[in-house]
Amino acid sequence: MRFLAICGSLRAASTNRILLEAFARHAPEGIAVVMCETIRDLPLFDPDRDDEYRPSAVAGLARQVAEADGLIIASPEYAHGIPGPLKNALDWLVSGSEIPNKPVMLVHASVRGLCVREHLSEVLKTMSAKLHPGPAFEIHLVGKSPEEAREMLDRPRMREHIAGVLAGFVAFAADPDASANG
Ligand SMILES: Cc1cc2nc3c(=O)[nH]c(=O)nc-3n(C[C@H](O)[C@H](O)[C@H](O)COP(=O)(O)O)c2cc1C
Repeated sequence: MRFLAICGSLRAASTNRILLEAFARHAPEGIAVVMCETIRDLPLFDPDRDDEYRPSAVAGLARQVAEADGLIIASPEYAHGIPGPLKNALDWLVSGSEIPNKPVMLVHASVRGLCVREHLSEVLKTMSAKLHPGPAFEIHLVGKSPEEAREMLDRPRMREHIAGVLAGFVAFAADPDASANG
């Protein structure tokens, strides 16, 4: 299976990005986790441009999402909400066929940010995604340098844990309706 990893932070030293990169590194054989690099290049959502001639970056994102067996999203919370770049990307996908029935797992680089978890769950359910019911993967990387964060994520028990979480998501993605939807 091939999962697309989407980070809600554009920060160079983003802990959410480092977390997703660890999911890519520690994926068991047969599972690929690929980072989505498109979010920062998207224009601001404009319903007037959301047609067959939509911007090429948007078409690229939609194609990546369509081709993925599932999405793994890690996002910080900004002012109790979803960061603009991520919400912008989701808005571009609202009217398309890519998100409905797409398995999605949220993972968290902070044990805080409970509002963004709720908002993301609500938005994704509204968009008819199949939300992995959890338990949520979380690790507190807030304030950690990239080196410290990678060191925590590369510890043997953490590698095993991440591989197990991914295996669980594979099982969910293979048959999302077997579990309660969020
Ligand atoms: C503009 C801004 C607003 C924030 N608002 C919140 C917030 O409401 N709740 C919270 O828990 N953290 C908040 N934070 C902290 C970030 O969520 C936290 O630093 C996060 O771990 C950063 O993720 P990153 O390392 O992937 O960029 C805010 C940070 C910024 C820059």
